[in-house]
Amino acid sequence: MFYIFLQSIFIIQIACVINEIPNSFCLQSICELETNCGLNLTNSCSYDSQNRKVCGYFRLSEYMYKNCYFVGFNPETESIRDAFHRCANNYTCASECVKNVPNIAKHKCNGISKCQKIAMAHFEGRGPYGCTEKSPERMGYWSKVEKLSMEFSRHFMVLRQFFE
Ligand SMILES: *[C@@H]1O[C@H](CO)[C@@H](O)[C@H](O)[C@H]1NC(C)=O
Ligand SMILES: *[C@@H]1O[C@H](CO)[C@@H](O)[C@H](O)[C@H]1NC(C)=O
Repeated sequence: MFYIFLQSIFIIQIACVINEIPNSFCLQSICELETNCGLNLTNSCSYDSQNRKVCGYFRLSEYMYKNCYFVGFNPETESIRDAFHRCANNYTCASECVKNVPNIAKHKCNGISKCQKIAMAHFEGRGPYGCTEKSPERMGYWSKVEKLSMEFSRHFMVLRQFFE
């Protein structure tokens, strides 16, 4: 048991060195922070601090949906609004959207991790260039995402030991 503990610490250190949180843990963490990943969704939609309508697992806004180029939108069968609601309430689709938002800002904020870009773009629906705004609130949000992601990674690594 102690050996496993040591080994998981070692793996976390490697993860810190390469400084890259896997997308799946990053998105899972954002989902937890936004809505308890679905558990706190009483209604699918609510309003954010800027009074924008936000929906689904990640509290996605139509503005953010536009910034991920309308993932999964089929113009032949539905309106953008319907596609937005469908995507926001589907974890796979919504997480794909959240992950893609920072892509527009390709060369901005080089040198920070992909997960940090995603988190900073997502905070309060700021959008692709969120990574340029290092307010204490935005940085605080990122550090919560980072911490939670590391916890997810650690649980995953520890679990994996038992199956190898
Ligand atoms: C979710 O609901 C619980 C219990 O009502 C509350 O303590 C928690 O702060 C909520 N989380 C979010 C992200 O709203
Ligand atoms: C959820 O979204 C994914 C990706 O867009 C799609 O492949 C899947 O069919 C959707 N699931 C449902 C139940 O609509």
